[in-house]
Amino acid sequence: MRLAILGATGAVGRTMLDVLAERRLHVDELVPIASPRSAGTEISWGGRSWTVQAPSDDAFEGVGIALFSAGADRSREWAPRAAERGAVVVDNSSCWRMDPEVPLIVPEVNAERLGERPRGIIANPNCSTIQMVLPLKALHDVAGLTRVVATTFQAVSGAGEKGRAALRSERSGGAAADSPFARPIDGNAIPCIGDFDEAGWTGEEQKMRAETRKILGLPELRIMASCVRIPVEVGHAVQLAVETERPLTREEAAEAMRALPGVAVADAAADFPTPREIAGRDEVFVGRLRIDPDLPNVLHLWVVADNLRKGAATNAVQIAERLADG
Ligand SMILES: NC(=O)c1ccc[n+]([C@@H]2O[C@H](COP(=O)([O-])OP(=O)(O)OC[C@H]3O[C@@H](n4cnc5c(N)ncnc54)[C@H](OP(=O)(O)O)[C@@H]3O)[C@@H](O)[C@H]2O)c1
Repeated sequence: MRLAILGATGAVGRTMLDVLAERRLHVDELVPIASPRSAGTEISWGGRSWTVQAPSDDAFEGVGIALFSAGADRSREWAPRAAERGAVVVDNSSCWRMDPEVPLIVPEVNAERLGERPRGIIANPNCSTIQMVLPLKALHDVAGLTRVVATTFQAVSGAGEKGRAALRSERSGGAAADSPFARPIDGNAIPCIGDFDEAGWTGEEQKMRAETRKILGLPELRIMASCVRIPVEVGHAVQLAVETERPLTREEAAEAMRALPGVAVADAAADFPTPREIAGRDEVFVGRLRIDPDLPNVLHLWVVADNLRKGAATNAVQIAERLADG
């Protein structure tokens, strides 16, 4: 199969190349695409060298699957053009996620919707949403979700290469001239990811609410998120308070989440996962399960995943694998 990656030189694109090299999807020909700045440079992958191209209609000719991770503007322009040429586009940007004609997929949760793609586009959810919906799906299936409150602690790589470069530059004493963050990030915690709306919610907080409702097929779910950027390179953490129709014991909740592929649940309270420990892994890690002392229907838990892998590249490659399987 001819597989294109738009954004192949970025934080997510390069992780896609790593994930593709590790997994079972058969790629005969790679088409790495990036900005005109990178066109003509070489990418080494699968034992040979591939030349990076700027986006063009020709680049998508004969492509079976195109993985997009070059931002919403590029996706808006190029996803329909790649799909017109017969490629199925798996898009990592926010551009198509809430389009009713575009399925928003986390394979372990709603793979059955993969075929519903009249535009030839499938959307990969926001990184913190992906890791949150796996445990939520498991808990919903056993006890029925009634309310979710999420607080995130998000790594700088969630803002791409610029985010990582800003932290490194600040740590080495330099100024981060091109920082994507609203304040200095080193030694800080910034409760602002995306733009604020009139009611004070940020873009990331809105995405987590809307995307979770769409993925779980629960358009009325009561859910809110507070999103915070922290000076960690890779790995997002989400602290969840989950209210269910019926109370769960910690053991029942752990068993339900463990039954979902791709979820690892820590048994002992002190065995909690952290971003630093799980960076480079594909699973979603859950720990710190506690029943609320005042509200028996509320479970508190801590969910950690590698934002560049399961939060982006791995989820997209898993979708591509399912497409290739037919
Ligand atoms: N980072 C995460 O955790 C994460 C998670 C989920 C989704 N996403 C989404 O994935 C996308 C990429 O994120 P990232 O973190 O990988 O960003 P990034 O590190 O900034 O990489 C951006 C990529 O887009 C390419 N690009 C920029 N302008 C272009 C243009 N005009 N034409 C073609 N390619 C262009 C860049 O090429 P050059 O190298 O040539 O500039 C680079 O390959 C974004 O939509 C983001 O929201 C990111």
